Amino acid sequence: MNKWVLLSGLCAAGALTAGMTMGGGSARDLAGVAFADKIAPIVYEKCTPCHRPGQVAPFSLMNYEDAKRRSGTIARVVEKRFMPPWKAVSGYGSFKHENRLTDEQVALFKAWHEAGAPRGEPSTEPKPPVFSTEWALGQPDLIVSADKEFKLGAEGEDVYRNFVIKTDYKESKWIRAIDVAPGNRKIVHHVIAFLDSGGRALNLEKSTKDGQPGYSTSGGGVGFLPDGALGGWAPGLQPFETPKGTAFELKPGTTIVLQVHYHKSGKEETDKTKLAIYLAKEKVEKEMRLAWIANPFFRLKAGNASQSVNMAYTVQADVTAYGAMPHMHLLGKSMKAWVELPDGKEVPLVAIDQWDFNWQLTYEFAKPLKIPAGSTVRATAVYDNSANNPNNPNKPPKDVRWGEQTTDEMALLIVSFTRDTN
Ligand code: HEC
Repeated sequence: MNKWVLLSGLCAAGALTAGMTMGGGSARDLAGVAFADKIAPIVYEKCTPCHRPGQVAPFSLMNYEDAKRRSGTIARVVEKRFMPPWKAVSGYGSFKHENRLTDEQVALFKAWHEAGAPRGEPSTEPKPPVFSTEWALGQPDLIVSADKEFKLGAEGEDVYRNFVIKTDYKESKWIRAIDVAPGNRKIVHHVIAFLDSGGRALNLEKSTKDGQPGYSTSGGGVGFLPDGALGGWAPGLQPFETPKGTAFELKPGTTIVLQVHYHKSGKEETDKTKLAIYLAKEKVEKEMRLAWIANPFFRLKAGNASQSVNMAYTVQADVTAYGAMPHMHLLGKSMKAWVELPDGKEVPLVAIDQWDFNWQLTYEFAKPLKIPAGSTVRATAVYDNSANNPNNPNKPPKDVRWGEQTTDEMALLIVSFTRDTN
């Protein structure tokens, strides 16, 4: 408990100093801020990848008029750190592809709005970015998908559909990256590729009689404990590429379960999402694995606005870790994960202080992290099971335990790693 307080205290102090430096130096820079010189470059880099036609975001931010029309809302959501959707607390761990605004950029949006959102000199304005429709990592080695389109209704709850992709490879395939091309970006919220070597997904699909490909589950699980995963995809995220000499193993006879989380659009829609697979080019020395560090033994008391659940796993061999993905459901409030080294020293992994179920991101470490045998990976998840939590699915609140449904909870941290010796 003391450690928790100490760590969050440190973060707050960091934020404070950053804020102070800013206030002194940049009042002059903020005067006369205009779209053309200061705002457009940020919007085009940090917002337009999602805020453009056919993408997840509900409106475009492609030019001056788009941004001016919403300057007030933009200033508000960037200040609250609701946008861009990057949930890792700044200063706790450091990450690749970090999609976060600096305090200075947030201040620029605010000053711009308060100045009446001026355009500035259009001739100096950067051009909106052009996005290629190609795969970010080039031509994939394999592209797989369900064999038919999936039809999604117009209205109602989100749907988790699991598309079962049989493979018939005679020997293991070594996978260095996956990428996803959503068939219909209006409805595809995020995608996770799970692995099943037990034929369980095939059975679930067989017993589904709605005439559609795949089978549905009601909460982000696949209906059983999968044998592993190849990773996930969310809009606006760079695909994770395993470092040289490492790869995920796809064993013969393994089925890929491509889980697509759909948001309904108000109209009937169809989708056929494609999974791209990139095979390792060099000899694979180390298998990339995923460790599922979980604590399924909890009961979140109805009405409790701040209940903690601790997870811990002691590492038995020297390993190298590459990234971490915290996972909770709707009652989740925050999670903090770190490694306690054998000498007691703590190394931060990732902290999220405003958990948002809609943004299940994997945070890839800026540098691979060596974790010696005898270290303990620890995480603390905090939940709000009170009536004041607007996401609480139970009205009135009731006791909640571990489970697959969105209305159940999870306390889970997934860490990608390799073993240093075999
Ligand atoms: C990874 C994709 C992504 C990126 C990057 C992104 N957005 Fe969004 N944005 C969304 C989605 C999806 C929504 C709808 C969210 C929802 O309804 O929960 C949204 C909603 C918004 C809203 C409406 C919020 C409200 O309360 O009505 C604003 C304003 C906004 N974004 C501004 C921005 C700005 C400014 C940036 C860049 C600094 C940005 N977004 C970057 C995906 C993104």
